[in-house]
Amino acid sequence: MKILALETSCDETSAAVVEDGRHVLADTIATQVEVHRKFGGVVPEIASRHHIRDVLPVVMAALDEAGTTLQEVDAVAVTQGPGLVGALLVGVATAKALAYAAGKPLVAVHHMEGHMYANLVAHPELEPPFLTLVVSGGHTLLVDVPAYNECRVLGQTKDDAAGEAFDKIARVMGYPYPGGPEIDRLAKTGNPHAVEFPLGLHKEDSYDFSFSGLKSAVINYLHNCEQKGESYSHADVAASFQRAVVDILVEKTRRAAAELGRTTVCLAGGVAANSALREALAAACLADGRTLLYPPLRLCTDNAVMIGARAYYQYLAGDVAGQDLNADPRLPFTGTV
Ligand code: KG4
Ligand code: ZN
Repeated sequence: MKILALETSCDETSAAVVEDGRHVLADTIATQVEVHRKFGGVVPEIASRHHIRDVLPVVMAALDEAGTTLQEVDAVAVTQGPGLVGALLVGVATAKALAYAAGKPLVAVHHMEGHMYANLVAHPELEPPFLTLVVSGGHTLLVDVPAYNECRVLGQTKDDAAGEAFDKIARVMGYPYPGGPEIDRLAKTGNPHAVEFPLGLHKEDSYDFSFSGLKSAVINYLHNCEQKGESYSHADVAASFQRAVVDILVEKTRRAAAELGRTTVCLAGGVAANSALREALAAACLADGRTLLYPPLRLCTDNAVMIGARAYYQYLAGDVAGQDLNADPRLPFTGTV
């Protein structure tokens, strides 16, 4: 079964053709990263305009790459939310029009569920149950997946997402958007114990996260140094901040995996591209006798392949949307069909 999938929730216009939820026949992305860089972050109105310009060429390129046509695909899938409302609307309107014109079923996908399903594409042997840590620019979630189409949120951030903290701190230090890869790069030559920043909700029993206190502590540290005219090492600050984020993510994931007895742990979302997080979680899983899986870099950040993967299992469960489908910038994470 072939699904044409669209993803336009933020600053990537992406279309993919995915077969049986696992095989990528086409994967096309028109990225806007350079456009938003000069503003230091994504400008919603500009993102919407670029999606409008790029969405049809990207869809045509995906169908072309897959060697197929709109008539030959079995369903059209799209990210319904969460995300930027104007950006989401472009994808939703396009998917509705394509599905209507070709008489195909429409499947509405939750963006974060898509991130979780990227691992199913990357790892053909992966089957539920597994535990997933989903860390992106907008969300930080620890989710248990006992079966296809089922998931239980164990914890989530109470304030900022991990990626948001990476982006903000990089910006304060003068680095371009997106800041995550910049911090990752800087941290490689820094001392992760140079500055002891606070670990949010470290001592709590819950699996919830908090990154705003850490973010403020790093920004205060930078401002203090500037006010006193003291120089600081960008690499040391990046490494110390990154260690604090990684420590808390790894600690809570490790505890949840042990409590639930999950032998497979998956990492997903844009921050899953972080090399220190991958290494630390891999070491923890190895020590505990668990398997860690994460997608290749291209499937960590926003892409339509993951939307096509998630949509396949929704379609099998009969979860099909109507032409009244609307974008939902705050779509709640329910996890069940
Ligand atoms: O999943 P994603 O592409 O978009 C959202 O759904 O938010 O995630 C983007 C986030 C940004 O905050 C970006 O800085 C972060 O992922 N990111 C990283 C790395 N690569 C991307 N954060 C830390 N280290 C990286 N290597
Ligand atoms: Zn995302």
